[in-house]
Amino acid sequence: MEVQVLSFYYCLLFLALFFISKLLILRGKNLPPSGPLCLPVIGHLYLFKKPLYRTLARISGSYGPIIILRFGSRRVLVVSSPSVAEECLTTNDIIFANRPRLLVGKYLGYDYTIIPWAPYGDHWRNLRRITTVEIFSSTRLQMFSNVRISEVHSLLRRLAADDTGESFKTVDMKSMFFELTLNFMMMMIAGKRYYGNNVSDLEKAKRFREIVKESFVVGGVSNVGDFLPALRWVGLFKDLEKKLVNLQGKRTGFMQELIEEHRMVGTHQTQSKEEKKTKTMLDVLLSLQEAEPDYYTDEIIIGIILTLLSAGTDSASGTMEWTMTLLLNHPKVLKKAQAEIDSTIGQGRLINESDLTNLPYLFCIINETLRMYPSGPLLAPHESSEECIVGGYTIPRGTMLLVNVWAIQNDPKLWVEPREFRPERMEGVGGGSDGFKLMPFGSGRRGCPGEALGMRMVGLALGLLIQCFEWKRIGQEMVDTEEGTIGLSLSKGKPLEASCRPRSTMLGLLSQI
Ligand code: HEM
Ligand SMILES: *[C@@H]1O[C@H](CO)[C@@H](O)[C@H](O)[C@H]1NC(C)=O
Ligand SMILES: *[C@@H]1O[C@H](CO)[C@@H](O)[C@H](O)[C@H]1NC(C)=O
Ligand SMILES: *[C@@H]1O[C@H](CO)[C@@H](O)[C@H](O)[C@H]1NC(C)=O
Repeated sequence: MEVQVLSFYYCLLFLALFFISKLLILRGKNLPPSGPLCLPVIGHLYLFKKPLYRTLARISGSYGPIIILRFGSRRVLVVSSPSVAEECLTTNDIIFANRPRLLVGKYLGYDYTIIPWAPYGDHWRNLRRITTVEIFSSTRLQMFSNVRISEVHSLLRRLAADDTGESFKTVDMKSMFFELTLNFMMMMIAGKRYYGNNVSDLEKAKRFREIVKESFVVGGVSNVGDFLPALRWVGLFKDLEKKLVNLQGKRTGFMQELIEEHRMVGTHQTQSKEEKKTKTMLDVLLSLQEAEPDYYTDEIIIGIILTLLSAGTDSASGTMEWTMTLLLNHPKVLKKAQAEIDSTIGQGRLINESDLTNLPYLFCIINETLRMYPSGPLLAPHESSEECIVGGYTIPRGTMLLVNVWAIQNDPKLWVEPREFRPERMEGVGGGSDGFKLMPFGSGRRGCPGEALGMRMVGLALGLLIQCFEWKRIGQEMVDTEEGTIGLSLSKGKPLEASCRPRSTMLGLLSQI
């Protein structure tokens, strides 16, 4: 016991000396303001109150749009104005195109080899290039348009089932959007549906859903061990690490089976017509593998699939849930969106994807939602690979960068009454010099490659739900807009429920799909 206590103090002493020497080295440089009192060892971690983006916005409010904090052993640059963000993501884009090596990236990111976690370099560039051409290009997006349409139709059919359009029914919107998005993704990836009706394989579906649930629980923890490595050496996070390893094993196993299955079907050509009308993303990746087996290993393919699933699901379904929340609290906006659809497409046919460009108001609504509730309020953490200059200050190499997009998009100096939901303000916003005032998808080399796909999924789902149904809150009270506190994303705290019934004018069409 005595010895342990003693070595603990030695440890502290060592750390203190370490930091002091580092400070001395850096003192000569012109570092940005360092915010409130920085305690030894834990640095600014004591300030953490969730949600983090709000806490950081408050601190930046007093200390300025560019500050350096310490999360335990990590130096963190927090940026919260459009011009400083622009400097980081354009002038210094390459330098900040790295990612910090956080624990989740080690275990769920295959030792930092998948797109979101890979360091800036050849491997990451290759993966981005392949996915840009083979997955995210407009040709490929077009190719999967029917898959997405039929998923929403299947949802509409379920919502309208044995309904005569008279009574409202209550719907669990959170699960509904989440399952819809997972179906979108898995149908595009592998031609499999794991939720709702016509599920491909009940046993597989059950396993898939369990893995998804577990990812939520385990993947959502922000890990103190990332910032206080000493605690990891002492073995305090063994349990979490074990869970992460275990989860990743299950995910890999599941995807490996999916690949084997695809291969068998591919060689025998006896697949059911239903499931394989269109080529899937997996087909595309497997045909690349045939041409270049050394580069496109199973591991690479599994990494890409898991990336698409984990980066594309919560973000898109969360955006649908927040948009619907705001629409239910602002029935006039909902009416206006419905009127836009009725006057552009009419009630004689259902919206398809080529109609989306003709529904600007719908996209103003979605953009306004992404402004108030961006699903990545701090983007994903970047890290500098060299020393650089931002806002006239020196930023040391190896500094983690958090761009507080939430703070920028809700700054009263940039937006009139930012906490008011006003889709009209989005008319003409976006692109050009406004780019860094509104950037829910990030910007630059590390920006979201799934923006076009995400916007289509969100636009199509909401467009059709608004075209076909009347929507209202389940009671008199406004829908609660409190934000959740799990992980780094901005999710709705309480799951959204809503009431709906088919519009009487749409019953005919709904019975035909
Ligand atoms: C409304 C939907 C979405 C939002 C708001 C969103 C937002 C974001 C944000 C903020 C980032 C971090 C950018 C940065 O670090 O600077 C990101 C990265 C990423 N997103 Fe999305 N995203 C959405 C949909 C999707 C979809 C549908 C996919 C793919 C199927 C996707 C794939 C990715 C990937 C792979 C990255 C990592 C990029 C890299 O590190 O190189 N996202 N997204
Ligand atoms: C399920 O598939 C059958 C044909 O295999 C189709 O007739 C039916 O409409 C589908 N149901 C749903 C809800 O997609
Ligand atoms: C969408 O519908 C319009 C009108 O029926 C049609 O002209 C267009 O080709 C359709 N687009 C797609 C992608 O199906
Ligand atoms: C929504 O925002 C995107 C940029 O994120 C922009 O390209 C698009 O034009 C905006 N749409 C509308 C209707 O404002």
